Amino acid sequence: MSAAAPPFADVLDDNPEIIREPPWTPQPGPQERAIRASFIEQLLFGGARGGGKTDFLIGDYASDVLAYGPHWRGIIFRHTYAELDEIVDRGKQILFNLFPNTEFKVGKSIFVMPNGATLRLRHLAEDKDAEHYQGHSYPWIGFDELPNWPSDAAYRKLKACLRSGHYIPNKRIRATGNPGGVGHQWVRSYFKIPGIDDPDGELIKDVDGARLFIRSLVTDNKILLKNDPDYVDRLKGVGDEQLVSAWLKGDWDAFVGQYFSNWENIDVEVESFEVPDSWPLYGALDYGESNPTSFGLYTTDFDGVHYRIAEYYKGNASASQHAYDISSLMATCPFISSGRKPSQIFSDPSMWVKRRLSESVQHSPADVFADQGLYLTRANNDRVTGWRVINDLLVKKKFKMFKGWNDNLARTAPAAPRCNRNPEDIDTHCEDHALDELRYFAINAYTPAHPPSSRDRDPFLGGNILNVMTTRRRTKRSNPFHAR
Ligand SMILES: Nc1ncnc2c1ncn2[C@@H]1O[C@H](COP(=O)(O)OP(=O)(O)OP(=O)(O)O)[C@@H](O)[C@H]1O
Ligand SMILES: [Mg+2]
Repeated sequence: MSAAAPPFADVLDDNPEIIREPPWTPQPGPQERAIRASFIEQLLFGGARGGGKTDFLIGDYASDVLAYGPHWRGIIFRHTYAELDEIVDRGKQILFNLFPNTEFKVGKSIFVMPNGATLRLRHLAEDKDAEHYQGHSYPWIGFDELPNWPSDAAYRKLKACLRSGHYIPNKRIRATGNPGGVGHQWVRSYFKIPGIDDPDGELIKDVDGARLFIRSLVTDNKILLKNDPDYVDRLKGVGDEQLVSAWLKGDWDAFVGQYFSNWENIDVEVESFEVPDSWPLYGALDYGESNPTSFGLYTTDFDGVHYRIAEYYKGNASASQHAYDISSLMATCPFISSGRKPSQIFSDPSMWVKRRLSESVQHSPADVFADQGLYLTRANNDRVTGWRVINDLLVKKKFKMFKGWNDNLARTAPAAPRCNRNPEDIDTHCEDHALDELRYFAINAYTPAHPPSSRDRDPFLGGNILNVMTTRRRTKRSNPFHAR
């Protein structure tokens, strides 16, 4: 058996040659306030994109490593495995630097500090996966981007793991999150997030335990703004005005009314014209039998402007009837050369689902369309990304439709409401067939601007870090950055 590692402070005392890199310190403002609130059991640090939320999470865990040593067992959850990467990278930068000789064990995805403290990184895609943690004990639990969980089920189950056999008075759960996302509403109501006139929430104390919301703002992340002065402008380029407002101001009430607040038919409609043969021709299809089937015929000019030339919109018909009518639309459309067919028709993925064996027709609707010479391409069906792409098209003025030939899209798109549960989505109960079909086209035919990533900067260039750059820090059995 290997000998237990000596206490970390002794290692530093006995090795004066260890020169510490500048330690991580919380930025003044909400990040520091949130770290100081270690006595509150549950805290949500949330709001702006790039407000320093993930850094807060790692910093908050780190602030009690020296106090509790091997009893300080932390665990951070993200919704998907891929999302853990950024925490691994940032965790290495912060923890290796604060606690030299910390190891990251890749196979187990765990940081082990030299004094025995541990931080596990786990993903939790399904609520039922929370059951794997039954019986575990952690005095520190973190959730990065809590609104990515559709309900509070996993959070509540894991709350039962907040315990320790050792006396740790400030056991805590720390969560981060931006407005938007599938869990927007439950997170907002669980932490009673106030409007933007109040920076932080009230301390809540009820059967669910003590909890507090602290709003993180990108303007308080001076390090990010200094290193990346264009960050806010790039964020504004995302397209969805309300989402940008939510992400910039940390506004959890920003999402109201119609989804496409910048859709004005008057801006989108153009007089029809003859489409040159050199422009590509596409189709997009949202399929329904009792619900309407929506088909749009599209082209793109050499400046990358996309046009919806004409539409077919009809309910209560069979697949073969729809296929026949769509073929007729193309044969008779006055704006394209006769005989031209779309090179691709981006279609509803449900069209490849075969009928049940008990039904008389054993083909999928896609097979029926192929029989009529309409060969379909399965579209990417990521709804939220699709809506963002459409917003980007609108903001960049890259989407137009022929006036008088697209009445159902013109009628339904500006009226589409946001989904209550996930304000980044459209309410699926509304008449969204033409929009779904536009989404299949847009997400497959157009490459939008990407929202900026907050992770491509060197975090150690910031002001508060520079201040201590020259200081040689030696820890004397106390945490060098624990706010007191
Ligand atoms: N206290 C700090 N010290 C040094 N760098 C920091 C600090 N706080 C934040 N940063 C840096 O600011 C940038 C944004 O921070 P972070 O990624 O934590 O924000 P976020 O709110 O989690 O962003 P997102 O909404 O994109 O997830 C990162 O480069 C991060 O390292
Ligand atoms: Mg983050």
